[in-house]
Amino acid sequence: MDDLREKWLKAVADAGDAAALEAVRVAALGKKGEISAQMRELGRMTPEERKEAGPRLNALKDEINSAIAAKRAALADAALEERLRTEWLDVTLPARPQRMGTVHPISQVTEEVTAIFADMGFSVAEGPQVESDWHNFDALNIPGHHPARAEMDTFYMARAEGDNRPPHVLRTHTSPVQIRAMEMAGAPLRVICPGRVYRADYDQTHTPMFHQVEGLAIDKDISMANLKWVLEEFVKAFFEVDEVELRFRASHFPFTEPSAEVDIRCSWEGGTLKVGEGDDWLEILGSGMVHPKVLMAGNIDPAAWQGFAFGMGIDRIAMLKYGIPDLRAFFDSDLRWLRHYGFAALDVPTLHRGLSR
Ligand code: DAH
Repeated sequence: MDDLREKWLKAVADAGDAAALEAVRVAALGKKGEISAQMRELGRMTPEERKEAGPRLNALKDEINSAIAAKRAALADAALEERLRTEWLDVTLPARPQRMGTVHPISQVTEEVTAIFADMGFSVAEGPQVESDWHNFDALNIPGHHPARAEMDTFYMARAEGDNRPPHVLRTHTSPVQIRAMEMAGAPLRVICPGRVYRADYDQTHTPMFHQVEGLAIDKDISMANLKWVLEEFVKAFFEVDEVELRFRASHFPFTEPSAEVDIRCSWEGGTLKVGEGDDWLEILGSGMVHPKVLMAGNIDPAAWQGFAFGMGIDRIAMLKYGIPDLRAFFDSDLRWLRHYGFAALDVPTLHRGLSR
């Protein structure tokens, strides 16, 4: 009996996995197992012998059974330990943004501008890039003979033969979206309109396709003071500085009266741009009070409503903020450039987390 006990307890202890343990159980306690065979022997014993051997055999059977149960639990624990050791994942590691590509600086800056103006209650409006001649020019108080039409180096769309209507154009600015937003939503209105614009021009600071963002606010009692505050707030938030000085220079645009071009104080010391200090001025946008004719073109009564508007080059402010010297590189799709100047795909600009981080 002692030999049997030793043999099977050792077999249980040596079983390396669940399958080996089950084989031991069958060989000891299964129908044809050794212990079961011994149990059958009891029938052939004298009552005295049985009295002595029966309880001992039963006790041995129980002992092996509980050894198997304990071993099974230990093997399961060990298997779980092993899985926990090998199948781990550090969820605190940062994502791998390089695998996902990068966000183009133009997209990044568009998101930054949108976040800043959204905070001031401006929503985003969009319009078509192939624009009617009326929305792009006439509605903005630029009639057919106006020199601004020639100055804008407009791309005209082809017309079907026999079609004598004025051809559509690739919009030369985002200003036509002002008209579309007024037509759609009426007054009061606060929108920005970022998007692509086109002019036949090409050098270090001009590409035939570039980006602008238009701003338009229409309400009762709106003045240049509101325009000035909004632009100052924008420039401080965008360039991430506490103080800026803006200079409003009298200018002329057909769609605003009065009109102003806006410069910011900056320094170029050491070849890098610093906004908010220094003795240089940098032009960043055109602006003014919306011309009554423009309000009328957007079906808004100029006797009841006023508005301010501005237009800014997105590519230009992106170059300034991120120190990108050549505009043309934006559109070369050079992977090395994109990796260098691109932004991590998961860092969405917001005012509370920081715009560019
Ligand atoms: N549309 C002008 C341009 O492309 C920029 C501009 C100037 C827009 C003054 C405005 C504005 O809304 O008020 O050069």
